Amino acid sequence: MSKGKMRIAVLVSGGGTNLQALLDAQKAGKIPSGEIVLVLSNNPEAYALQRAANFGVKGLAWDGTVPEGLNRRQALEAWLLQHLKEEAIDVIILAGFMFILSPAFIEAYRDRIINVHPALIPSFCGEGFYGLHVHEAALGYGVKVTGATVHLVNEIPDGGRILLQKAVDILPGDTPEVLQKRVMEQAEWILLPQAAELLCRELGEQA
Ligand code: GAR
Repeated sequence: MSKGKMRIAVLVSGGGTNLQALLDAQKAGKIPSGEIVLVLSNNPEAYALQRAANFGVKGLAWDGTVPEGLNRRQALEAWLLQHLKEEAIDVIILAGFMFILSPAFIEAYRDRIINVHPALIPSFCGEGFYGLHVHEAALGYGVKVTGATVHLVNEIPDGGRILLQKAVDILPGDTPEVLQKRVMEQAEWILLPQAAELLCRELGEQA
């Protein structure tokens, strides 16, 4: 693995506001131990790709091609691994990446993948809890506090070691959309860059 700054890839699927927070933090000098050099999307329509382009960061989208003998997941992961290797990536950040990675993929980057989840794990997490569904579930249950979690990725969906967590109040009249925005503003966009720096610094010290 490389010495000096950790080479970071951000994996996205949608709007990319967490990617934006990471790029802004990098510009502001808040991720001195790493550098975002690659953005990969499983969805060619993801606005996150435009955000990468605006920042002059290389962004690529999977075109959905599934070579013979592979299933969809294997094809996507092969495509991801090829580009991660080509760019000598040290650290992977899942920022709204709506896809559960296989054990083999996770093993290839053990303790080098982080994910942001829009709830206080172990609440409202695991398979099926993604995006707005997470906030619908929190409102449906009637909890008064939710938040966001950044954790290392292991084979259990949303089950890896927690790095950072921040609570956010639920207010009367909240809709899933309103709550999602508050959780992003008050927790996700702050925690994710902090966790990126934490992990890059830790790995840099080990190198
Ligand atoms: C974010 O709220 C992120 O935490 C969530 O999807 C949204 C993506 O927004 N991720 C998950 O639910 C993963 N389980 P963004 O594309 O604007 O960053």
